[in-house]
Amino acid sequence: MSFLNVAIVGATGAVGQELLSLLEKRHFPMRELRCFASSRSSGKTVLFKEELLPLLPLSENNFKGIDLAIFSAGRAVSKEWVPIALQQGVKVVDNSSYFRMDPDVPLVIPEINSHLLTYSTQLIASPNCSTTLMLMALAPLHRHYKIERIVAATYQAASGAGLLAMKELEAETLAHLENRPYTRSVMPHPYAFNLFPHNSPFTEEGYAEEEIKMREEARKILEEPTLGVHATCVRVPVLRAHAEALNVTFKSPISVAEGYSLLKNAPGITLLEDRVTNRFAMPSDATGQDAVFCGRLRQDPSCANTLDLWVVGDQLLKGAALNALQIAELLVKKERCEYCPKL
Ligand SMILES: NC(=O)c1ccc[n+]([C@@H]2O[C@H](COP(=O)([O-])OP(=O)(O)OC[C@H]3O[C@@H](n4cnc5c(N)ncnc54)[C@H](OP(=O)(O)O)[C@@H]3O)[C@@H](O)[C@H]2O)c1
Repeated sequence: MSFLNVAIVGATGAVGQELLSLLEKRHFPMRELRCFASSRSSGKTVLFKEELLPLLPLSENNFKGIDLAIFSAGRAVSKEWVPIALQQGVKVVDNSSYFRMDPDVPLVIPEINSHLLTYSTQLIASPNCSTTLMLMALAPLHRHYKIERIVAATYQAASGAGLLAMKELEAETLAHLENRPYTRSVMPHPYAFNLFPHNSPFTEEGYAEEEIKMREEARKILEEPTLGVHATCVRVPVLRAHAEALNVTFKSPISVAEGYSLLKNAPGITLLEDRVTNRFAMPSDATGQDAVFCGRLRQDPSCANTLDLWVVGDQLLKGAALNALQIAELLVKKERCEYCPKL
């Protein structure tokens, strides 16, 4: 089964579209690609390797013969259709939040906890985008200097809320510049030239769900059930790529130089900064890039053993599509390793 029959569920979405380009760019070993979207897309096609592929509706029959499905169509679709795919023997990588906190489902960032995957793993969850970007930067430090507490402030792009949110930001910005009224249908508040606390549902304690995800998923991935994580998530009028300001307290002293040295050698991390010109990573640097960009390491003199970091990453890539595909690539590798000794 080295060449797989692959399904992309949510192929027309912001993440799904990135998955299609990554499958081609990374030469994923595929025999067949089947693309799924909602009934709104029936009769339409998507472009893959210069070929127009039909967009299929989800149905039990349509999973027949599929080896691996990557779901990027939201919680409700994953809740209903992932179990059906699994019953048919399909391996699933799920980008939605539905299975992430299930203790039986590994939540994987390949650079951090690929050890959780075996070839027989049927379902793997890919984490929340803000969590992935944060942990890409912090896991390499945590391996050497245990983290006690993270205080995170995020600056999250429209694309984190999907393709329609990106289109809405563009249209609202244009309307604003032309002094025209604009009726929003995706974002709850004026977005052009504005910002607001993250638009995920709020809990009774006043947290956005996104903030809770950053805490719970970080604890699960780092296998630190009592890790302190306190996040404030904010939607900013950027089309693509999230930024995060992290204030991190370690259990023992860590110098700025040690922090840079660990990050310099960390997989998937690029240090980007020029202190002389006050130039640090921006969403425009990270857009379309696989790497997560870090810099601005500073000692926090107001708190012992505490460093500040600035992190920017394309959350459609490492925060979603790339991470999911890397998981799929790992599954292929595990299968090859499993069968090698028997050859
Ligand atoms: N955006 C990010 O940065 C990001 C990061 C991490 C995880 N995720 C997760 O990835 C998933 C997709 O996010 P996105 O930003 O790509 O959203 P999106 O741009 O809104 O795309 C949603 C996709 O799901 C499809 N879909 C919706 N309802 C469906 C149904 N009933 N049956 C089949 N397909 C259906 C849509 O098809 P139509 O075009 O036909 O409507 C579209 O292809 C979500 O679970 C999200 O939480 C997103």
